[in-house]
Amino acid sequence: MASGGIPGKLGGLWQRLVGRADDAPPGEPSVSPTSQQTLADDTPPTQAEVGSTPPDLHDFELGAEIGRGAMAIVYKATQRSTGRQVAIKRLALSREFSSEDLADVRDRFMREARAARALQHPDILQVVDAGQDGRDAWLALEYVLGRDLSLFTKPGQLLPVREVVQIGARLARALDYAHSQGVIHRDIKPANVMLDRINGSLKLMDFGIARVGDGSRTRTGLVLGTPSFMSPEQLAGLTVDGRSDLYSLGVLLYQLLTGTLPHQSESMARLMQQIATEPAPDVRIHRPGLPESLALVLAVAQEKRPELRYPNGEQMARDLEAVLIMDLQNEPATPEAVKPQDDAFAQTLRLTPEEAGQNRRSSALPGESHEPPQAP
Ligand SMILES: Nc1ncnc2c1ncn2[C@@H]1O[C@H](COP(=O)(O)OP(=O)(O)OP(=O)(O)O)[C@@H](O)[C@H]1O
Ligand SMILES: [Mg+2]
Repeated sequence: MASGGIPGKLGGLWQRLVGRADDAPPGEPSVSPTSQQTLADDTPPTQAEVGSTPPDLHDFELGAEIGRGAMAIVYKATQRSTGRQVAIKRLALSREFSSEDLADVRDRFMREARAARALQHPDILQVVDAGQDGRDAWLALEYVLGRDLSLFTKPGQLLPVREVVQIGARLARALDYAHSQGVIHRDIKPANVMLDRINGSLKLMDFGIARVGDGSRTRTGLVLGTPSFMSPEQLAGLTVDGRSDLYSLGVLLYQLLTGTLPHQSESMARLMQQIATEPAPDVRIHRPGLPESLALVLAVAQEKRPELRYPNGEQMARDLEAVLIMDLQNEPATPEAVKPQDDAFAQTLRLTPEEAGQNRRSSALPGESHEPPQAP
């Protein structure tokens, strides 16, 4: 697929979705065809490393599978040298990227892993180690109990409003910290946040993973990032900063509060148009009991133009805390009934060129497998 032609009519959309070589921001090496290193199937991987000692997957004893996404399988594991329990995330880079792109993709993966590993925050999942395994890559992550927030976007399973707003304030502060360290997440969505309601732990995960494929086409048209949560500038393939993550956080909160996404369509082209041009509907359309102050915070976060949004996560966190104090003191603990949602495009998608304008409903319905359809 990577070397196959892109149908002319869909080329622009297709290229925006999978990233383009000439989109690399200033300071990042861009991937030009001439600078690409061709990697034969049996070429050994480069010895990039995250820590001071070379990372080795053999230091981890892999246990049961605990989850999977569009590009990765996650296993419970034990680090032999320390006895520490971790989660190992194996990314099938060689399945997703062509041989020519693989070296660049792996380098980018190691750069992103190094940046993510430097983040130390109670609400950000700690990256323990990262490395390459043959032609693929892996991350060792702090293992956490609980569920990812996508569970709480389903009708009948919504969290109490107070809890959602508290989660929003914590995530906004975690993002403020990451942005101050020069790290942008790029794929804020419920599935990338783990919540343990028993001990109150909240962990934002997968920093920078959506950046790994930038500039390279995937074999199967994997969209790195999740369209429904992407800011207009990210969807347009423009340079993004922390305000793009705050937009995505606004969408995440909207979905946690209502079980509905602000923009939905069966057509990818129409969805992109909505995100680019149409204001998000007032959240109270879906849940009339919500306070106006909360609706305003979400509206500011989801402004089309970054300069009209919160300038940083701290300000968004403070506004969410003000909503808690002013308007949610007496909020009941049980969620109100909400109508069923259609969470089209709420997950990372795998598109073939033929279906680039279509949403494969079978891959997006609630309760179904997270395993995306395999491209032919
Ligand atoms: N450190 C961890 N501890 C415990 N469970 C984890 C950990 N990391 C991931 N998981 C589980 O594995 C699931 C799959 O994670 P993964 O990031 O591969 O997929 P995703 O975020 O659902 O989709 P995408 O492919 O778009 O990233 C998570 O949703 C979570 O339930
Ligand atoms: Mg993820």
